[in-house]
Amino acid sequence: MENVKGPVVVTGASGYVGSWLVMKLLQYGYTVRATVRDPRDIRKTKPLLDLPGADERLTIWKADLSEDGSFDEAINGCTGVYHVATPMDFDSEDPENEVIKPTINGVLGIMKSCKKAGTVKRVIFTSSAGTVNVQEYQMPEYDESSWSDIDFIRRVKMTGWMYFVSKILAEKAAWDFAKENEIQFISIIPTLVVGPFITSTMPPSMITALSLITGNEAHYSILKQIQLVHLDDVCKAHIFLFENPEASGRYICSSYDTTIYDLARKIKDKYPQYAIPQKFEGIDDQIKPVHFSSKKLIDLGFKYQYTFEEMFDEGIRSCIEKNLIPRQTQERYYADDKLNLGCTKMTNDKLDLGGMKINSMDKIVRGHNEQVSVALQ
Ligand SMILES: NC(=O)c1ccc[n+]([C@@H]2O[C@H](COP(=O)([O-])OP(=O)(O)OC[C@H]3O[C@@H](n4cnc5c(N)ncnc54)[C@H](OP(=O)(O)O)[C@@H]3O)[C@@H](O)[C@H]2O)c1
Repeated sequence: MENVKGPVVVTGASGYVGSWLVMKLLQYGYTVRATVRDPRDIRKTKPLLDLPGADERLTIWKADLSEDGSFDEAINGCTGVYHVATPMDFDSEDPENEVIKPTINGVLGIMKSCKKAGTVKRVIFTSSAGTVNVQEYQMPEYDESSWSDIDFIRRVKMTGWMYFVSKILAEKAAWDFAKENEIQFISIIPTLVVGPFITSTMPPSMITALSLITGNEAHYSILKQIQLVHLDDVCKAHIFLFENPEASGRYICSSYDTTIYDLARKIKDKYPQYAIPQKFEGIDDQIKPVHFSSKKLIDLGFKYQYTFEEMFDEGIRSCIEKNLIPRQTQERYYADDKLNLGCTKMTNDKLDLGGMKINSMDKIVRGHNEQVSVALQ
């Protein structure tokens, strides 16, 4: 093991990004203080406590973004803070008080705790692509100089609008506080994070990323022109930015740009066990991807490790292992093979089943060469 480093704080440590970041920090030899809202919630803390190195170098602290001074104790004596936590209640009936205010006041509270502690060398804030490109018209490419249009977001109130507003205002407030109080503050801007996970529930971004598999249509508009990054790359970039003395400002962290049509094609080809829609009402099928440039991060020396295929392969595997998505949404029957259907002829999608009786012919959705796919009910 490398020399022990830290202690560092990770807020939102029981979440998708936070828990993987805690795991990476332990792997890198850090002593970690993980903050959660309810340390008695075993379902959320067990994946952290089971991590290699946790017995020696991980402690769990209770802290809530809605409570003033809540992070003082955890941050006191630490060399670094990774502020990952964020309220994500998209269905909130009081978004101003339940999402927007706690996000802004929470980051300011954390910055004040850092100032009080006097030991914190750097704060890494997990921002969001939602602070960059939520605008009426998409540009072909975005970098860190762009900010989302808050008036447009408040006017249109699209799905998750309160999350975008909360992240924009929180990041801007933190920048002001950092400048006034000479705190080293860096924001990292991940796009949609996809990949394996150690939490026991379905991560919010995996709900979106796998919505074509689960048929969760409410999320299709988010995938229209989407950028992706692997969870492990995102967490490594957090640590890279904390450790690199040259790092300053905002950093986009994104490795793959795509559209819903491209995504649907790729998932369909790679995972034929799932029924993936290929047409999306109201979305132009000639739509182009929007590029999120990671040039600043790459120029600093960061290297992305994972491909698009690895994001989905590993993410889907985690979901299946935890029973969070079905293993398949259509079952494949092989003619003359497993079920001996006695398929004798096939022209396009029409089958002559050679006298075999299939009660639910209406469920045959497609046929390729000698195989017939039958959708499950
Ligand atoms: N996943 C992505 O695709 C993505 C992309 C861009 C940016 N991000 C950013 O990454 C961060 C983590 O997101 P995630 O995907 O890991 O989401 P997540 O799994 O929902 O984690 C969010 C965490 O925030 C904590 N939290 C919520 N409200 C809190 C409060 N009032 N006080 C203290 N903690 C609170 C939750 O803690 P409890 O366990 O106590 O509920 C949870 O651990 C967020 O800042 C998000 O904006 C994520």
